Amino acid sequence: MATRRAVIFAATAILGTVKAHEHHTDHIEEGNAISDDPIDSILWMHILIQCLAWGVLFPTGMVLGIIRSRWHVPLQSTATVLSVVGWFLGHKHKGRQFAPNVHAAFAPSPMLLLFLQVALGVYLKLHLERGFHGRIRGVIVKCHGVVGKLLPVVAWVQMLFGGITALGFCRGDHLGQCLAHFIMGSAFIAYGIVLTILLLVGQLWIKRTGRSQEFFDSLVIAAWGCVNTFTEHRWGGPWVHNDLQHTSMGIIWWSAGLVGIWLSKDRQGRPKRNLIPGIVILMTGYAMSAHPQNLPLSTMVHSVFGYTLMGAGLTRIIEISFVLKDKPSYSPDGMETHSFQYLPVFLLYASGFLFMGATEEQMKLLSDANVTHVSYVLILYSIAFILFLFVNMLLNLYSAYAWPVDPVKAKLDPERAPRANGHANGHARPSRTSLRDAEEFELEGLMSDDEGLDSPRRKNATSG
Ligand code: HEM
Ligand code: HEM
Repeated sequence: MATRRAVIFAATAILGTVKAHEHHTDHIEEGNAISDDPIDSILWMHILIQCLAWGVLFPTGMVLGIIRSRWHVPLQSTATVLSVVGWFLGHKHKGRQFAPNVHAAFAPSPMLLLFLQVALGVYLKLHLERGFHGRIRGVIVKCHGVVGKLLPVVAWVQMLFGGITALGFCRGDHLGQCLAHFIMGSAFIAYGIVLTILLLVGQLWIKRTGRSQEFFDSLVIAAWGCVNTFTEHRWGGPWVHNDLQHTSMGIIWWSAGLVGIWLSKDRQGRPKRNLIPGIVILMTGYAMSAHPQNLPLSTMVHSVFGYTLMGAGLTRIIEISFVLKDKPSYSPDGMETHSFQYLPVFLLYASGFLFMGATEEQMKLLSDANVTHVSYVLILYSIAFILFLFVNMLLNLYSAYAWPVDPVKAKLDPERAPRANGHANGHARPSRTSLRDAEEFELEGLMSDDEGLDSPRRKNATSG
């Protein structure tokens, strides 16, 4: 009861500020989206706090939730408090003024989703497990799981909206170009993240699907190609700008994608690797690097982007052909990686950030400030490295729990111990007692009765 009252109180308070808050736009010059004032310290605090809460804490807490750590609830509660503080700061800023914008309009969506998530979480934490509650618990855990994984994606969108709002970008004529760069850029980064997940913790999963990695890659490429074939040009109208190039890129994606799907099985129907997705990435990089641009800076950044993407495609081809020699994974148990395998994956992150950072407005801003393409490219690469590090850290957090290495055995014989105990995935396992002790220590009060079925460690214990 008390919790419900607290939630209602918080919601009313927030809706109250939304209503009470007025947008001052009197400093904005005719035709502009923002005033010339600098961003004030309150808005800077808003930006920093929201980046910390939504960009770092929630995703970390999400992984802690998946592994059922006892730190899940404290971390997500802290992040929730921070994001509410950040919300108020967003409304209280002075300094730079903004015309009605997409960031302000979209803001209630992540917040409502967060409140739903917290409400579901609090319900789970109450451990009402008898009768009706017991029957719906599984569904609530599923919903909490789905919304929990959706939140970082929604947060990504809201953070991008924040960036373009702060600078007054992507309005009028610029909208189409912004959409193209931010959607494609985010797609490259998402592809990079998915491949990192599959590389580090998903190789066994791919094996279980009975399909090769290229089947999934080619399927997405073909579907995306179909969409682009019909949406990049206004049919019936004249061919303008880079219409023809975009449409032809859509066509090559679906044509090549279909080949990739076809080649992902051998004649006996067994999963088989192929080079088609790598070739498609390579050709996309080539096409994009050759796009005509207005500013010299833009041309340089686009060409580095093109080379990076070509690099991603080329290294993927090398990885499959020469590192893996067409095998599904580096080690038969799917637990090891070759250092080269990080390269194509990382280059996708880098391509994504380079592409997102290359819209006309960004190029003009930098060109006017005399920033050279070299420094800009290095900065974008740095951002890519930071995100790559973060994703690797989160995956390590996950696998350290899902596939724990026995510290005692590792100390005795770090090289051999894992294989000596004969486990299917090649990693030493803690004894049953130490595993149980660790679980009790970590999960006190967090796990539900049905939890065991879904938990990553349980899955591993049953499969290994
Ligand atoms: C602060 C309020 C929250 C509370 C009290 C809470 C509580 C819980 C509990 C008790 C579980 C374990 C469920 C079970 O096995 O019975 C869980 C799992 C989980 N939580 Fe939360 N949570 C909260 C917020 C969040 C947020 C904000 C996110 C995401 C950003 C999140 C993501 C997850 C995920 C992904 C799981 C794993 C679900 C699955 O494996 O299907 N939680 N949470
Ligand atoms: C996902 C996390 C974020 C959330 C939930 C969020 C939410 C909000 C909210 C509720 C407002 C008030 C909107 C209004 O005045 O009606 C706001 C304002 C603002 N935020 Fe964020 N924000 C987030 C991240 C960011 C980031 C990362 C940036 C910049 C890089 C940013 C830049 C701004 C700016 C410039 C405003 C002022 C807009 C205006 O006054 O109309 N925000 N934000």
